[in-house]
This record gives sequence, C-alpha cells and structure tokens, in this order.
Amino acid sequence: MPKPLTAHPSSSLNGHAVIPGDKSISHRALMIGALTEGETIISGLLEGEDVHATAAAMRAMGANITREQNNVWRTFGVGIGNLKQPEHPLDMGNSGTSARLIMGLVASHAITATFTGDSSLSKRPMNRVIEPLRAMGAKINASEGGTLPLTIHGTNTLKPITYKTPKASAQIKSCILLAGLNTAGTTTVIESTLTRNYTENMLTAAGIPVITKTTDGGIEHAVTGGGTLLPSLVQIPRDPSSAAFPIVAALISPNSNVICENIGLNPTRDGLYRTLIDMGADLSITNKRTESGEIIGCLTAKNSTLKGINLPPERVPDMIDEIPILAIAASFAQGTTTMTGLAELRVKESDRLQTTYDGLKACGVKCEIGKDSLTIHGTGQPPN
Ligand code: S3P
Repeated sequence: MPKPLTAHPSSSLNGHAVIPGDKSISHRALMIGALTEGETIISGLLEGEDVHATAAAMRAMGANITREQNNVWRTFGVGIGNLKQPEHPLDMGNSGTSARLIMGLVASHAITATFTGDSSLSKRPMNRVIEPLRAMGAKINASEGGTLPLTIHGTNTLKPITYKTPKASAQIKSCILLAGLNTAGTTTVIESTLTRNYTENMLTAAGIPVITKTTDGGIEHAVTGGGTLLPSLVQIPRDPSSAAFPIVAALISPNSNVICENIGLNPTRDGLYRTLIDMGADLSITNKRTESGEIIGCLTAKNSTLKGINLPPERVPDMIDEIPILAIAASFAQGTTTMTGLAELRVKESDRLQTTYDGLKACGVKCEIGKDSLTIHGTGQPPN
C-alpha cells in the first residue's frame, strides 16, 4: 500500500552524508563468494532486502554465509559446479539483479530451481535472459510473457555462445558470463555500449579472467569455463546511486555544502556526476584512488546555479538509475533539459519514466514525456 509522506523545504543542508555500500557490487560479492573454493571476506556490504534475497538464495544452494558484528560478511563457497539443489523456490523479492544473475548460475548447474518474486518483479521481463540461457541449452518454463515465477532445469553441460545483447544491460551481460563459468569453452557477450563492469572486474580479481576488447562489432567480454575462484578480500565502495540524492539536494538548496566519502566512481556508473558538472554544478571530487579494484573518491557538493542540458543518449547506461534524480536537478536549472534513450526506465521496478513525469507534474514542473524521452523546463529558482 502506498504510504503518504510529507516533505518540507530545508533552509540549507550541511555536513557529511554516510552512504551505504554499492548494491550491484554487494550482490556480485555474495554470488562470487558462494562459488569460491574457500572463504571470501566482504566488508561494506549493503544490507538491504535485495542483497538479503541474494544471500538467502546462495545459502539455499549450499553456500555458508555469515555476518559478523561490524558489517563484515564471510562466505564459504561451494566451488563452481557444486551448487546444490535448493529445497524450496528461490524468492527474489523485488530484486531484478538477484533474479537475472542467479538464473545464469542455476542454468549452468545440474539442478532445478523455481524463481519467484513480489508483484513488481513478477511483471518484469525475463526473456532477455531466458533467450540466451536457452540458446546455451538450459530448459526454462516461464510464466506467460516470460515472467516469474519460472523454473530452470539447469545442466553442467551448457554450450558456450557468442551473444550480442539487444539492449544495454549489465544484468544480461552478467547472467551470461556467470553461466559461462561452468560451461566448457569460451562464452562471449558483446554489447554496443559498455555497461557497469563489476562482474568482469570481480571475476578477474578472483582468478577467472574476463577478457574485454573493443572490436568493430562492439565491446566483447569473454570468459572461459573450468576455472577456479580464489578466496579474496572484497571492500565494497559506497553506492554512487545512493549518494546522488544528498548531492543533488545540496546543489539545489541555498547555502548548502554536503560531503559524501568513499563513493564508487567507476566510469560506468558516474554519468550523473559528469552531467551535473556539465550543468555547472559546484561538485568536486577529491581523494580519488583505487581500492579493491574500484575507483573511489570523496564528493563535495555546494549550492549551485545549474543550466539545462541535452543529455547525450550514450551516457544513459552510466546513470540508468539516476535519471529520476537528474530530473529533479533539471527542474531547478535555468533552461530546458532534454533526455532521450530512456526506454529501459519503463521496465524497472516501476515505470520510472512515467512516475518521474507524474511526480514532476504534481509538483508543478513544466515537462513533457515521450515514448523514451523526457523534457524538463527548469525554473532557475531554488525550491520554495
Ligand atoms: C544492475 C544493472 C542495471 C541497474 C540495476 C542494477 C546490475 O539494470 O538498473 O539497478 O547490478 O547489474 P539493467 O541491466 O537492467 O540495466
């Protein structure tokens, strides 16, 4: 049931905002840890419902996953090829990343698992991963329209494929690469725009190289099955998607100065921050460094006069979850902001394009929506 909330404008925002761990990396750390032979120690895991759904599914398939007091998690993995048959359906809750990535793992093991989810996840398209997994040889019975609940009859004799993703999606790419771990031969995914590359980076760091190269056909990622994942220490950066909210709030509120430390700034995720800087934001990045294979840094945002922008569509995958908050920033910018290439927003947890437009309209923002576009006419004034 929707719960009514009331927000009041603040005079200014100042201080440090402590941001939780990156959700995409948290899911992958648990999945990869569960497939490792031995112990993986993870710090900074995001302890939200979606990540708990991943932990529960990996436990149900044999991994031992424990939490210590100071947000340190330990996984004792079963090794690639050794996931065990879960006794009950795997409940993915609201989490598309859990569902799509774990489908790749189940498909490539000789086990059968049923995937269920909440009412939102049960409407989301799964054919985007069902099709390549079927092409590899998995048997999948899905609900009408290719949705959850669905059952996968996996096998440890999948065929390697070379698959060009029909849309920019890290979940499709990751599903296939994870299936490739227990598939003899080399499995290749080609994407036309590089999407978040954590699966590639984390598998490579744990001892199974994912070879990425740019060719005329796109960006190719290849993984060869039969390897072994090695125990490692994973330090998870703070989530750039979560930092986006206090950062934009500071930019649009008078006399504000907000600091967010240790934020993940992987170039496949920092599109919002590049865009805000292009719009004239007083947003600085300091102490930029690489930790646990990921670029992280400290973001400092001060109240700024923003200008409208034409968002380059090729940047959308680098900020796919930040379009709604960019829309808020654009509402307070001087001039018009146009965004195109937003079709994927319609198949997220909700139709994020429509809900963003409806929310802006309800707040009196002048804006127009298209099939895959949003145009916002900013006021150039602070919130009142
Ligand atoms: C994610 C990929 C993106 C993103 C989602 C997390 C991931 O989804 O929107 O929140 O962790 O791989 P798509 O792959 O559907 O774009």
